[in-house]
Amino acid sequence: MSATPRTPVSRAAGDPAPVTLPCLAEKKRLGQPIVMVTAYDYPSAQVAQAAAVDVVLVGDSGAMTVLGYPSTVPVSTEEMLMLASAVRRGLRTPLLVGDLPFGSYEASDPQAIATAQRFVKEAGCDAVKLERGGTSVQRARAIAEAGIPVMGHVGLTPQTATALGGYRAQGRTARRALSVARDALALQEAGCFSVVFEAIPAAVAAMVTRRLAIPVIGIGAGPSTDGQVLVFHDLLGIYDGHTPKFVKRFADVREQMIAGVAQYAAEVRQGAFPGPEHGYPIDEEELQLFRKELEAES
Ligand code: KIV
Repeated sequence: MSATPRTPVSRAAGDPAPVTLPCLAEKKRLGQPIVMVTAYDYPSAQVAQAAAVDVVLVGDSGAMTVLGYPSTVPVSTEEMLMLASAVRRGLRTPLLVGDLPFGSYEASDPQAIATAQRFVKEAGCDAVKLERGGTSVQRARAIAEAGIPVMGHVGLTPQTATALGGYRAQGRTARRALSVARDALALQEAGCFSVVFEAIPAAVAAMVTRRLAIPVIGIGAGPSTDGQVLVFHDLLGIYDGHTPKFVKRFADVREQMIAGVAQYAAEVRQGAFPGPEHGYPIDEEELQLFRKELEAES
């Protein structure tokens, strides 16, 4: 496991200490749950910062939640870099992880290293995440050896959901659970500092988490992983699309947003907004002068 190359970001008074890789390892050792959330822009990053989460992931789920694609597959590296840069500007202390999009790392080690370097150099990410075991294990090794911390992701891997038979839970037979465990152990051996378990039975996640030295962050993997991650738009009730079974909605922000915009529209149509308190005054004398000059000009 390598040290975290933190991008210098000025801290504000009262900020907690920046979260580093050793902090996450220590949390696992002490049994303190790690909190990770996704963010895709400046305001969502500011919210994550204010809520004092440990890790922020610029997930390729942003393809669907903020860019409106039907899946995570079409999002480009350029689009992800733009989202990640905005998040960087809104974040000071959580560890920032950028998700390598589909097609940006699978072809070769040089391709994987070059893309990961862009997330660090151009967007200021502290680490990157990639999906799957198999050939991704070697890509993870290459990126880690190039000095960039890597997070793995096993179980349901949305970039290759078609090959997995769709968006469905993984590891539900002994054979499939063993395959998830082997992928996770291989990613650890390749130098990953952490691994995400998505949509696997809680009992399987608990057994594999105990066997791994690196922190496991779960999503739909039960309560025994070392931490949890949820998609910002899912947990706040902003996203209107399909919500997986494992999501708990902690707020209904979309309803509040619709109510707010509908109220604004109603007040504009009724002439109730803007009121005098929303405008700028001018001295009566100046106004008379202006009227005269305007009349003279026309
Ligand atoms: O893209 C994403 O948001 C993710 C998390 C669900 C782990 O990969």
